[in-house]
Amino acid sequence: MRVDGREAPPRGTILDAVLALGISLPHLCKDDNLPPIGACRTCLVEADGRVVAACHTPAEGITEVSTGSPRVVALRTTVLELTRGMHGPRPDIAGGPSSGELWAAYEAHRLAEPPGPRRERSGLDASSPFFAFHEQQCILCGRCVAACQQLQHIGAIGIAGRGTAARVTPGAGATFADSACTACGSCVAACPTHALVPKEGRA
Ligand code: SF4
Ligand code: FES
Repeated sequence: MRVDGREAPPRGTILDAVLALGISLPHLCKDDNLPPIGACRTCLVEADGRVVAACHTPAEGITEVSTGSPRVVALRTTVLELTRGMHGPRPDIAGGPSSGELWAAYEAHRLAEPPGPRRERSGLDASSPFFAFHEQQCILCGRCVAACQQLQHIGAIGIAGRGTAARVTPGAGATFADSACTACGSCVAACPTHALVPKEGRA
């Protein structure tokens, strides 16, 4: 398989090959330690002439991948523009967990600050002694849910509701302090947008 003209081992997924070559490609709902969710579509590439999500497309059988064709860059930019409409302004955090994957993706696709209007999701759950959830930054990628359920097997965090009513919730509890959360930090580490941040990382 060749990715952007470079030879890559046809193992795992296309995203595995792309990242192994050191090529930058957004993958906002794919945690390095978990199976793909396939929710965000920010990892679109062209593979043998088809547009596919790199995170869950096997590399086996693919011969040519392009991460930078005008067609696929335009599609990813459109996806990111839609994502941009889901959250608030860039949080004032230097570094931090995941180092702002979302904002790196915007910059790589020449997208500026979020335009309004956006979803009316502005809750703050600072009940945990260790982290805070700033709902305005959430893009509903599901990485926190997968980390809590599949890595930690706790299930203290979920996504409730559908469509524009969908939101991240602390399971059956009203707040994270009331939930089964053990403050392990997996959700914070997984979040690509700084919606979940350690308390010392943000006022
Ligand atoms: S809190 Fe973060 S990891 Fe969880 S769904 Fe929202 S953006 Fe994704
Ligand atoms: S990273 Fe591939 S669909 Fe989200």
